[in-house]
Amino acid sequence: MITFMFNGERQQLDVAADMPLLWAIRDHLKVNGTKFGCGKGLCGACTVHLDGAPTRSCVLPVAAVAGRAVTTIEGAEHDPVMTALRRAWIEYGVPQCGYCQSGQLMSAAALLNGNSRPSDEDIDSAMSGNICRCGTYSRIRKAIHRAAATLASPGDTAGIEQYAGAGFGNFVELKAVAVAPAGAREEGQS
Ligand code: FES
Ligand code: FES
Repeated sequence: MITFMFNGERQQLDVAADMPLLWAIRDHLKVNGTKFGCGKGLCGACTVHLDGAPTRSCVLPVAAVAGRAVTTIEGAEHDPVMTALRRAWIEYGVPQCGYCQSGQLMSAAALLNGNSRPSDEDIDSAMSGNICRCGTYSRIRKAIHRAAATLASPGDTAGIEQYAGAGFGNFVELKAVAVAPAGAREEGQS
């Protein structure tokens, strides 16, 4: 039996100790915002936070998280940094197919939690392990800068509430918001 904190709640799993954490999250806990890409620790699609650090869940045995805290994109839903990132993601139309975006956001959140005003080089370094086949890298960089600026200016919260309940696991929904005419966005339509 493996006991750990999962998205803020104590969780116990009776699974093989060498099962990849990603399998435990998706197949046993039925939480599917974290994606499978390469299965070899190379693409970043499966990124979660382990005690706050970005971690590739496809190559981490579930036994390694015993007594530790795992957070997925779902568990970060109401985190202020993630909310600012999500708003910026939409503002810059980052998600394309959306498949990599859960992992991208988790890496971006870990970056901003440790570095509130990252440079381009900081961003490129922190995000280098997250691959996007749709080539959204330049938008991701802009959106991280935007989120950092928003977090640095507490008064600049216009629009954050609009996205606070948007589903992290469904970037089709986020993309629909992102591509809506500017007027519709301002009116909260999608
Ligand atoms: S699926 Fe884990 S790094 Fe690619
Ligand atoms: S948005 Fe399609 S893989 Fe990144």
